[in-house]
Amino acid sequence: MNKSDNLAKKSVLFVCLGNICRSPAAEAIFRKRVLEKGVGLIEEIDSAGLNGYHNGERADSRMIRVAYKRGYQITSISRRFNPDVDFDKFDLIVGMDDYNISELKKLAKKTEHISKISKITDYEDSKSYSEVPDPYYGGEAGFVQVLDILEKCSDGLITRLRL
Ligand code: 4NP
Repeated sequence: MNKSDNLAKKSVLFVCLGNICRSPAAEAIFRKRVLEKGVGLIEEIDSAGLNGYHNGERADSRMIRVAYKRGYQITSISRRFNPDVDFDKFDLIVGMDDYNISELKKLAKKTEHISKISKITDYEDSKSYSEVPDPYYGGEAGFVQVLDILEKCSDGLITRLRL
C-alpha cells in the first residue's frame, strides 16, 4: 500500500456473530467518533453478522440501552455478512473475536480479501484485550464492558487510518 492509498477515504465493515450486540455497537461508536475526530477519513460504516440468525431485527435491546446511556444511538438492522459483495465493497473488514476472524478467513477466496480482515482489538494500543467478549448470554456488565473496549479500539482505528 502506498501513501496515496492510505489517504483515500475508507469503507469499514464491523463483523460479529449475530450482528445484534457487538458489531452494531462498534458501528455506532465508530460513527460518532469519526464525526468528532476523523471527518474526511471514512466513506462508509456498516456492520454484519456471520450467522444470519437475527436477519432483519434491530439490535439487542440491552445493547441499545447501555449504548444510549453513553450517548450512542444504535439504529442498525441485522444482516448476514455477504462474502460475494462485502469483501469487494469494504476496505476494512473488522471482526470482534478470534472465531469471527477464522470464519471470515474461511469465506475469503482471494489474498486481497484476506488482507482486508483484522480484529478490532488489534487497534487498541495498550493491547489490554485480545477479543471483544460476546455479551449475549450474560448480564448488563458484559454489555458495558463491550462499550469500554470498543471505545478504546475505535480511537485506535481512527489513529491508524490517519497514518
Ligand atoms: P453478537 O452476539 O455476535 O455480538 O451480535 C450474539 C448475538 C446472538 C447470537 C450470537 C451472538 N445468536 O447466536 O443468537
